[in-house]
Amino acid sequence: MSNLNKFKRFTVTSALPYANGPLHIGHLAGAYLPADIFVRYLRLKKKDVVYICGSDEHGAAITIKAKKENTTPQAIIDKYHNQIKNSFEEFGIAFDFYHRTSSPIHHDLSQEFFLNLYEKDEFIEKFSEQYYDEEYHQFLADRYIVGTCPNCHFENAYGDQCENCGTSLNPTDLINPISTLSGKPPVLKPTKHWYLPLDKYQPWLEKWIDSKEGDWKVNVFGQCKSWLKSGLQPRSMTRDLDWGIDVPLEEAKGKKLYVWMDAPIGYISSTKQWALDNGKDWKQYWKKQENEADDSCLLHFIGKDNIVFHCIIFPSILHAHGEYILPQNVPANEFLNLEGDKLSTSRNHAVWLHEYLEEFPGKQDELRYVLTSILPETSDSEFTWKDYQARVNNELVAILGNYINRVMILMHKFYDGKIESETSRITLTDKYLEYEIGRYYDDLGLNLEAYKFRQSLQNVMDIARLGNRYLTENEPWKTIKIDPAKAKETLHNCLILIGHLAVCLQPFLPATAKKVTGMLNWPEGNIGFDQEIEFKSGHQLNAAALLFEKVEDEVIDKQIQKLQDKKDDAAAAKQVQITPAKENINYDAFSAMDIRTGTILTAEKVAKTKKLLKLTIDTGIDQRTVVSGIAEYYEPENIIGQKVSVLVNLEPREIKGILSQGMILMAENADGKLSFVTATEDMHNGSVVR
Ligand code: 2FM
Ligand code: ZN
Repeated sequence: MSNLNKFKRFTVTSALPYANGPLHIGHLAGAYLPADIFVRYLRLKKKDVVYICGSDEHGAAITIKAKKENTTPQAIIDKYHNQIKNSFEEFGIAFDFYHRTSSPIHHDLSQEFFLNLYEKDEFIEKFSEQYYDEEYHQFLADRYIVGTCPNCHFENAYGDQCENCGTSLNPTDLINPISTLSGKPPVLKPTKHWYLPLDKYQPWLEKWIDSKEGDWKVNVFGQCKSWLKSGLQPRSMTRDLDWGIDVPLEEAKGKKLYVWMDAPIGYISSTKQWALDNGKDWKQYWKKQENEADDSCLLHFIGKDNIVFHCIIFPSILHAHGEYILPQNVPANEFLNLEGDKLSTSRNHAVWLHEYLEEFPGKQDELRYVLTSILPETSDSEFTWKDYQARVNNELVAILGNYINRVMILMHKFYDGKIESETSRITLTDKYLEYEIGRYYDDLGLNLEAYKFRQSLQNVMDIARLGNRYLTENEPWKTIKIDPAKAKETLHNCLILIGHLAVCLQPFLPATAKKVTGMLNWPEGNIGFDQEIEFKSGHQLNAAALLFEKVEDEVIDKQIQKLQDKKDDAAAAKQVQITPAKENINYDAFSAMDIRTGTILTAEKVAKTKKLLKLTIDTGIDQRTVVSGIAEYYEPENIIGQKVSVLVNLEPREIKGILSQGMILMAENADGKLSFVTATEDMHNGSVVR
């Protein structure tokens, strides 16, 4: 195994997703699918491996979502943790443990880490001026501040980044900053925080990162070098927030750990919980062992936006602590785009995993296959539904499924699915096949160990291609009549080849591999990479099962249309102009208004006007005439009996010669569409609205 060969034990992590929304294909292609394939491969090589993940449940990402959904952060993390966990399970992402950072074991460990560094005097304690919302009495997380980008003048840039031009910002860079909590300009106030002295670690980091040249992916190594080149600055590990892990210091009451301090520690706490539940020793997977050769090989699978945290900040924390191993590799992926555009949660431009599962039941391996084929390993890549259809139809159906199906059908047709041979077992008798399969296996291993998943999947498909060619060239359906022994030998060789496919498919398409194993009537459970592929004479095969179905045009068109509809909805929503808030009034001004519930008794058009209706309203107090400008939206006969709210003490006014005694309340949206502001039917007329 390349330079991984020296390790007996592996600790593999995938980035902890924020529990603030569902997962989409970009998540899967970034940090989970490659890691899952890699881990499955390690397991087939009989390596000792723990694969760890969990939900990232702290930070502004969670509180912002809670505010948006008008609920609590706890409700948000509970909802999305479960949804995310389920999506992972359904797609066969085979974590040994999927934990959550809200768990007590994680809070304890994160505080322990903080105190360890604090007691070693690692932190720089500093006061700095930060934005504070005076109305909400709180300091503002970067994402809670919006303003004009100093770079491109986009008006809705966040305190940490402008999403229009991509510039990374500090909140104080924004022109005209506004707190998203109160909608008012925040003020600067001094506050104390604990900073990790990255500048102090820079020389050590440089040496360590340099030692990874040629081993780490070019995109990862390059990004690290560029961070180091621009010079590292101390980074605050604490925040003024009300959601997160308490800073375990008396003088830091009310402050929380920075989410990027606690999240990666989540890998360790998750391993701890797994070890507790499974009678393992977590320290073997995380701590430096007496003998360096016994250290576990730590690998972090992430997306490119997380590189700095996994290659600079977390290693610095581990280094400062001193007892922990450092990552051997951080095979970060670039981004996946969708139909020519960036995947975007806020614009709803995504293929959501939970929706795919509903709309394509049982077709998880199809998506695994397509995504693995286009993983953004070295540069951004793109998912399109047409490509999905082409890959499923032309590769999974036409090559892999077709090959296995043809062989199985012929075996059943000619021999009732029974393997009978003069020798006690059958093995590969064709030297060329043997040579080619050996070559593909070697390439497969080399590619996987170099994190080249796209290429390694092609190695597996090449075995199926090889099989198809061999079958077509040897034509057992013809030789069965003239040389039955030859036909049998051909089909037996084809079966051995299916056996190899069943082995090699396991990391990539686990559900399909299982189906193939079932058809071969092999015992359940993983088949190791080093296992000899053979069948005993007399072995009975099971019936051929359909592996993949052709994807029809309608299915794809529907998905493309769905994305277009979402785009249209997002564009329409963006265009809605919300009328700015009026000046504040005092309570007396409000309570001077006498608003009652009433019912429209009669309605007629006011002659020579387009907009006006003359209404008689039962206000509970009396029956009175009100002239209202709603004629363009309501036919008189349709609103008789309609419940309304009426401002009854508005000074009477003559409109088109009619004395209007009050005003009915209407809501008006950005398109000018009107709707009655009303109470439920059981509210008697004259009820007070306040
Ligand atoms: O970017 C993200 O989605 C973060 N929640 C990733 C955290 S990875 C790790 F460090 F926990
Ligand atoms: Zn900008």
